[in-house]
Amino acid sequence: MSGLLGVAKGWLAASGSVAIAARVNASSPAPFETRVRPFGQEAMDQACAILDAGGCVAIPTETVYGLAADATNAEAVAGIYEAKGRPSFNPLIIHVGSMAQARRIGTFDAGAQALAEAFWPGPLTIVVPRTASCPVATLATAGLDTVALRHPAHPVMRAILGDDRALAAPSANVSGSVSPTKAAHVLATLGGRIPLVIDGGPCSEGLESTIVAPRADRLILLRPGPITPDMLTAATGLPVESDTSGKITAPGQIASHYAPGKPVLVDCTAPPAETFVIGFGPGECDYQLSESANLSEAAARLFDALHAGATSAKPAIAIMPIPHEGLGLAINDRLKRAAA
Ligand code: TXA
Ligand code: MG
Repeated sequence: MSGLLGVAKGWLAASGSVAIAARVNASSPAPFETRVRPFGQEAMDQACAILDAGGCVAIPTETVYGLAADATNAEAVAGIYEAKGRPSFNPLIIHVGSMAQARRIGTFDAGAQALAEAFWPGPLTIVVPRTASCPVATLATAGLDTVALRHPAHPVMRAILGDDRALAAPSANVSGSVSPTKAAHVLATLGGRIPLVIDGGPCSEGLESTIVAPRADRLILLRPGPITPDMLTAATGLPVESDTSGKITAPGQIASHYAPGKPVLVDCTAPPAETFVIGFGPGECDYQLSESANLSEAAARLFDALHAGATSAKPAIAIMPIPHEGLGLAINDRLKRAAA
């Protein structure tokens, strides 16, 4: 690993970009001087060089920032787990920039095909069988014979993916902490642990992708997200069932995920004094998700609100009620984990 890290570090040292002071975690496996660069040709060239050398780069997507590495290189994938401090090798989402690349990796039946046509590029992850010649490292799929594929819409991620890359990318944060929707959120936990963050501004969706596994007669929803069950059914004609087997775990199914490190009260109509109040709809609060009670605005701001609550001096966070419908299902799912 040190050879590989040396390549990335040497490359960055020569690049002359502005270093951002980043907290170096004492337990950090690889102390890096983490650089944050706005997207442009130079940042793109740097990102591609690091990825080709088997390193990790934080890249914006329309959902959350991802910590990306070459999915076909097992050592590079191991670097993701190492940087995130993941307790176990969960299967990762594989990001592609074209349908042709998706087909090299996974087998699409009619349902998967309909989903890809309706929602790609976009915030939907489709779980399909690996092809016989699937180039993705088995470490990235945790030894499963299926693979979770996503063709993201964000221009920065798309530019880096091109037509032929396959990038494994979980959210760019230390395992168990709140997902990042801004470059500064990435720095807060991965500063000192990765060489480069590409700053593409705040993420427009703000919630991780919907994960769905198509079956012949139905769709299994593994993680709620920006693409709602109604949208999935409208596109395919198939009913949506939530996964309750617990056999396949999405991050949204891990109880302690998204923890901001202090108590979180949800559905709070009368927040106790001394709590950091996250509002939804008109009223006084410390962080307003959406004055007009708009669910997509609230989703895009949710993780930023939790980051703000986590770093405030107040000892607890209270969140006003958010309707359990449409995008509100995914928002409440994340809030439940944050409160667990
Ligand atoms: O929006 C997103 O999806 C973000 C951005 C960066 O794209 N990525 C993300 O990745 O949330 P990650 O690694 O945090 O989510 C991976 C989850 C796993 O925990 C697992 O539950 C599910 O995707 N998954 C991956 N491969 C799977 C498989 N073969 N079968 C079932 N679930 C799978
Ligand atoms: Mg995550």
